[in-house]
Order: sequence, then C-alpha cells, then structure tokens
Amino acid sequence: MKNPLIIAIDGPAASGKGTLSRKLATHFDLPHLDTGLIYRAVGQALLQVDLPLDNEELAAEVAQNIDFSKLDRKALSVHEIGEAASKVAIMPKVREILLQAQRDFAAKGAVLDGRDIGTVVCPNADIKLFVTASPQIRAKRRFDEMIERGRTQDDVTYEAVLADLKVRDDRDMNRKDAPLKPAQDAHLIDTSKMDIETAFQTVLDLVKHTGL
Ligand code: C5P
Repeated sequence: MKNPLIIAIDGPAASGKGTLSRKLATHFDLPHLDTGLIYRAVGQALLQVDLPLDNEELAAEVAQNIDFSKLDRKALSVHEIGEAASKVAIMPKVREILLQAQRDFAAKGAVLDGRDIGTVVCPNADIKLFVTASPQIRAKRRFDEMIERGRTQDDVTYEAVLADLKVRDDRDMNRKDAPLKPAQDAHLIDTSKMDIETAFQTVLDLVKHTGL
C-alpha cells in the first residue's frame, strides 16, 4: 500500500462520518483527527468564560492556543458546544489559523473527518468520502444519543434537535469560507438506510477498487 495514506471524510452532523472514520483509522492503523473537535474547542473556550461568539479577533486568539493533543471528545460533544463551533467556524481568521495544523497532522498519513477536508485541508487525499443521511434520520440519531447521555424528554425534543440541525447545516453549507460540500472527486455514501458495518464494508470495497 502506498504511504502515507490520507483519507478525507466530510459530511454534515450525525451522518455517521465520525464512527466510520474511527473504524477506518483502526483498520489502516492510521492516526485520526476529528476536526470538528478543534472548532468545538474554540467554541467551548469562549463559552466557558462567557465571551461572545461573534467576535472574530477574540475567536482567532483562542484558536491560536488550541492544543490538538488535548481534545476531550466527551466534554466537547455537548450539543451547545456544537452550535458554538459552527458560529466560530464561519470566521476566515479562525479557519486560517487551524488549517496548517490540520495539514501538519495529515502529512504522515491519517484519517481526518470534518466539513472541508476533501475540498480545502487535504485536496490531494487518496480517498475522499462524503457521508450523508437525511436530516430526519440524523436528528433522530442525535436525539437518541442525547437521551442516552442523560438528557430528558423534558429538556430536549426531537423537533428541537431537527430544527437546530437544519440551522447548523444551513450555516455550514452557506458560509463563504470552506463551506460544507462534496469534493468533485468524493465518493458519496448515504447512511440513511445503512448501518455502520455496511458503510465500513462499502468503503473497504472502494479502497480495494482504487488499488491503494
Ligand atoms: O463535526 P462536528 O459536529 O463536531 O463539528 C462542529 C462544527 O464545526 C460544524 O458544525 C462546523 O461548523 C465546524 N467544522 C468546520 N470544519 C470542519 C469541522 C467542523 O467548519 N472541518
């Protein structure tokens, strides 16, 4: 197999791209970077000290100090932090600061997942995937996850999660800088009616056919 192998996985929230990325990283013995976590870390840092989420200079300063080796997935997976992340992610200065560090991470071979990996961060990736699913299915997955983690149906509803997800999709797809969209050479994987194992096997077949 050619080295270093770079696998770029993009897609909207709750499409299944995170689980798929982790499985692929394990299978190919590659490091994995969930790039959503870095935007989440910027959002979290601002929320923690009650700073506004619409000040580009402040957010850029915070982004400078994000330590990629200290991203706490569990703490960062809170729904509100995802919302904050998508607000700071529209800022060109924040994206520019985080771009080089993501490329450095990819340089020795890696699986990266996010919104702009195949289009901006790693346009020369060996394999590009765009993982998606219907908004209703994604909202249901997110809602079930939240209930599993202890939220109750009194403080969160499926309808509210679906509405938030649509707002986030819209913000991610329509921002000027590095919007969420499939790279021209990305393989589309719709997980609406697919479990993760089937998605994983689909990608392995793809890799085999690519001859990597
Ligand atoms: O994937 P996750 O839901 O953790 O991402 C949180 C937010 O971070 C996204 O909604 C998006 O606005 C932003 N993001 C991004 N570019 C990436 C990864 C995430 O803009 N490569």
